[in-house]
Amino acid sequence: MRDDIVLIERFPDVDDYLRVRAAAGMHPKTREAAARALPNTLYGVRLERDGEVVGMGRVIGDNGCFFTVVDIAIVPELQGRGLGKRVVAALDAWLLRNVPPSAYVTLVADGDAKYLYSQFGFVESAPVAVNMEYVMEAGGVKSTTHLDPK
Ligand SMILES: CC(C)(COP(=O)(O)OP(=O)(O)OC[C@H]1O[C@@H](n2cnc3c(N)ncnc32)[C@H](O)[C@@H]1OP(=O)(O)O)[C@@H](O)C(=O)NCCC(=O)NCCS
Repeated sequence: MRDDIVLIERFPDVDDYLRVRAAAGMHPKTREAAARALPNTLYGVRLERDGEVVGMGRVIGDNGCFFTVVDIAIVPELQGRGLGKRVVAALDAWLLRNVPPSAYVTLVADGDAKYLYSQFGFVESAPVAVNMEYVMEAGGVKSTTHLDPK
């Protein structure tokens, strides 16, 4: 099964990006935000099965001092069989080749995804440093409802 899935060193287009994010249950992005964002990807990969994008991950940042791993997602029906690890391993290989000494490499791990990232050297920064965030909504409203307990 896994052999049918190929990793391609090109990030998905906007349609596939929005679809896979939604399928994986991640916070939705507008088409406008995605269209602005994706050309700024430093390095990204997709997983394809029969030509359909079923997973993805990318690195963003200033390409010198700060690098951030984002948009790691696998469609639900294929989760739990090593594909997320395959995506992160590809990003890790790129980071090892391209990140200069002294740079920060960061990510925000949702839930138990931290067990995946910890396999690639990431450690939790709290309590020394904590992630702080809000989602910008229309009209300049800074929303944190995505952090409310479910
Ligand atoms: C998080 C996600 C990308 C992981 O991909 P996946 O294909 O399901 O994970 P893998 O099968 O590659 O697992 C890789 C390793 O991480 C561990 N892992 C992954 N998810 C885990 C979980 N929920 N709990 C514990 N361990 C987990 C696995 O045990 C595995 O370790 P192993 O190689 O030692 O067995 C995927 O589940 C997903 O898309 N989730 C929804 C979107 C999301 O939350 N994205 C992350 C945003 S930070």
